[in-house]
Amino acid sequence: MGNAWDPERYLKFRAERRKPYEELMALVRPSAGMRIADLGCGPGELTVDLAKRFDAGSVVGVDHSAEMLARAAAEDDPRVSFACADIAEHPLHGFDLIVSNAALHWLPEHPALFARLRDGLVEGGQLAVQMPNNFAQPTHTTAFTLAGESPFAEVLGEARSGAAVETAERYAVLLHTLGFREQVVREPVYLHELPNAAAAVEWVKGSLLTWYEARLGPELHAEFVRRYERRLLDTLGPAEPFPLTYRRMILWARR
Ligand SMILES: C[S@@+](CC[C@H](N)C(=O)[O-])C[C@H]1O[C@@H](n2cnc3c(N)ncnc32)[C@H](O)[C@@H]1O
Repeated sequence: MGNAWDPERYLKFRAERRKPYEELMALVRPSAGMRIADLGCGPGELTVDLAKRFDAGSVVGVDHSAEMLARAAAEDDPRVSFACADIAEHPLHGFDLIVSNAALHWLPEHPALFARLRDGLVEGGQLAVQMPNNFAQPTHTTAFTLAGESPFAEVLGEARSGAAVETAERYAVLLHTLGFREQVVREPVYLHELPNAAAAVEWVKGSLLTWYEARLGPELHAEFVRRYERRLLDTLGPAEPFPLTYRRMILWARR
C-alpha cells in the first residue's frame, strides 16, 4: 500500500520545495545528451525541468501513483516519458544520471536500494538524491505519537510512519562501500516562512500524512487530522508568519 497523493495539495508549496532541488542540481556535472531517470517523479514538473536544464537525450519519470502521473502526462516534451512502476522494481540500466527528489525516504532497505541505483548507472554516471529528514520536529513527532494511540494504533499496528532516512554518516559510508568514486553528503536545514502555523499543517497533510490517509480510510483519517491539527497548533503557538524549519538529506555521488 502506498500513500494517498494529491498533486494539487502537494504543489501548493512548490516554491519552498524547489530550493533543495536547486541545491541538488548545482552538484550535477552536466554532459551532452544525458540519459536521465527521475525516480518518484510525482507531478512531473521536475522531470521536464531535467530535460530542459541539461538538454538531456532522454528522461524517464518513474512513479507508482496513478494520481500523480495523471498530472505528469499533461507535460509535453518529446524527450520525456513516464512509467507507472515501483522504484524498487522498475528496471534501471545504462543511465548517466539518476535523480530522486523527495521520494526515497518512502522506500525501505536503503543499502540494497542504493546498490540497485548504482547498478543502473554507467561508469562515471551520477546519483543525485534529496530526502526530507525532519523526523525529529513537532510536525512529524506529533503524527508518530498519535499513530500509537487509540483508535489509530488498532489499524496501523506497530507502524508509526512509512518513511525513514539514515544518518549522514551512514550514507557517506554506504556510497563509499558501493564503490562511488566521489561523493557529497549534506544535511542542510531550510527555513520556510509560512503565513501561519496552520500552513504547516497543510504542508504536512500533502506529504507525511498521505501515508496515514492511505491506511486509515476517510473517516478515521479525518479524525487523525483533527487531533493532529489541534495538538500541533498547541505546540507551535500562534506565530504569524510561522518559521518552518526543515532538515533535508542531500546526496550526490559519481561512479
Ligand atoms: C513528495 S513526492 C515528490 C515528487 C517529485 N519528485 C518532486 O520533487 O516534486 C514523492 C513521490 O514519490 C512517489 N513514490 C513514493 N514511493 C514510491 C515507490 N516505491 N515507487 C514509485 N514511486 C514512489 C510518490 O508516489 C510521490 O509521487
